[in-house]
Amino acid sequence: MVNSDNLNLLLKVNGTQHTLQIDPRVTLLDALREKIGLTGTKKGCDRGQCGACTVLVDGRRINSCLTLAVMYQETEITTIEELAKGDELHPMQAAFIKHDGFQCGYCTPGQIMSAVGLLAEGCPSDDAEIKECMSGNICRCSAYPGIVAAIQEVRQMQPNL
Ligand code: FES
Ligand code: FES
Repeated sequence: MVNSDNLNLLLKVNGTQHTLQIDPRVTLLDALREKIGLTGTKKGCDRGQCGACTVLVDGRRINSCLTLAVMYQETEITTIEELAKGDELHPMQAAFIKHDGFQCGYCTPGQIMSAVGLLAEGCPSDDAEIKECMSGNICRCSAYPGIVAAIQEVRQMQPNL
């Protein structure tokens, strides 16, 4: 059924423009998962407390469950699906595997997007500060030591970060 309250919305996600007819109350997370079909971004708490829904907007981290899709026209949205290039993992993905930065994996897309954003934002480099910069991303499996080790490894690969 057509809802006359729907808006036409243009969202640029991972370099591709998507035209959506969308209820203005739809969150960015639901637009990504349910309208565009990018289910790599996870819904955990749906209220801004876990970070499972982290994506990058113009390179900065946001919780996509806490914000409306209509606010993101004219922006570049990046999700976990954009990181690997074919069979070649992004260095952060490879480092998470190498350092056991996950167990069940549910939080992992959000953790990885947050880690990529964190390095671009210039978070200070010691372990305590990295934990603070990642404090919005909760891992119920407590894979935190591996996550910090992965971030430190990628930082050392990219000394300008
Ligand atoms: Fe968005 Fe938990 S699902 S912060
Ligand atoms: Fe299971 Fe983080 S790996 S919640």
